[in-house]
Amino acid sequence: MKALVLAGGSGTRLRPITHTSAKQLLPVANKPVLFYGLEAIADAGITDVGIVVGDSEAEIRNAVGDGRAFGITVTYIQQRAPLGIAHAVLIAREFLGEDDFVLYLGDNFLVGGITDVVDTFLTQRPDAQILLTRVARPSEFGVAELDGTGRVVGLQEKPQRPKSDLALVGVYLFGTAIHEAVRAVRPSARGELEITHALQWLIDHGSDLRSTEVSGYWKDTGNVADMLEVNRLVLETLEPRVDGEVDETSEIIGRVRIDAGATVRHSRIVGPAVIGSGSVLTDTYVGPFTSIAQGCRIQDSEIEFSIVLKNASVTGVGRIEASLIGRSVEVTPAPAVPRAHRLVLGDHSKAQISA
Ligand code: TTP
Repeated sequence: MKALVLAGGSGTRLRPITHTSAKQLLPVANKPVLFYGLEAIADAGITDVGIVVGDSEAEIRNAVGDGRAFGITVTYIQQRAPLGIAHAVLIAREFLGEDDFVLYLGDNFLVGGITDVVDTFLTQRPDAQILLTRVARPSEFGVAELDGTGRVVGLQEKPQRPKSDLALVGVYLFGTAIHEAVRAVRPSARGELEITHALQWLIDHGSDLRSTEVSGYWKDTGNVADMLEVNRLVLETLEPRVDGEVDETSEIIGRVRIDAGATVRHSRIVGPAVIGSGSVLTDTYVGPFTSIAQGCRIQDSEIEFSIVLKNASVTGVGRIEASLIGRSVEVTPAPAVPRAHRLVLGDHSKAQISA
């Protein structure tokens, strides 16, 4: 069994961060999202892994290398443009050969790994097995319709009238039948070869498509709110540990990891939170669900429920919440300018204006 991991795409929903950085490398608890997927693949005993890359190929290669660090062997496959998930399967034909494979979207996050679903697939050997999870707003997802036995009888892409609340998770298992399907489908209205269309093609041609409902949490980390949510979730399981330097005027509360080489002075950190090596925190409050990567400088500020990427600095800005701050960003206070409020207030109104 092989794995095909998709790490190309355009990442429009995470702009401007994705203009200069691959979204699959955005850190969750200071570790790239993609690494969690590669670890899950290795844990399932799969060692032959193809990674589909686009414009950010150099960055992905730099981070993953030959895969040795994960116990896998990586083959890079170039996709000339993000022409769809089914297109990525199409161009990986030579790498995949006649093997079964797991298709793993590199920005997806699945708690509990994939070992169980891989085992189920290998026992039942359907033509395809999809993972489903119940969602509150199925109209934002690919949605599956099942018969009484769990066989997939139909798929809908972002339907206005969803036939179920079961959304497709970005992990699929395939036998060789998928290759004919991805050759057969035509580009969708948005110009992509859609994997849902290829799956529908399989159903229409009598293939055996099965599903597994995953209870473990998953998220497509494609937007900022999801990134923050996944980060929160992973930080909840963090092993607290202080390897960095914390002076005696600082206070560390709860699940906090401070990596070696980090310095905390006259600050208060309330976990869960992680502070990367080389970061310096001075006169600062770090609140729950915050990841501060390596080499950051946070001074005279408050930050909570946020992700700060490498080498960013935040100085004297009061409180920051629910934010994703990119690499080498500098956040500083605006120069004080005289301000005026223009108001039209009705009789007896009450207005609260922050001074
Ligand atoms: P998506 O999040 O569906 O697409 P995207 O990366 O283009 O993002 P956006 O919608 O914000 O513009 O992609 C899921 C994963 O698959 C992600 O890791 C990128 C990858 N991918 C490819 O490698 N090639 C492709 O052609 C597409 C569409 C996605």
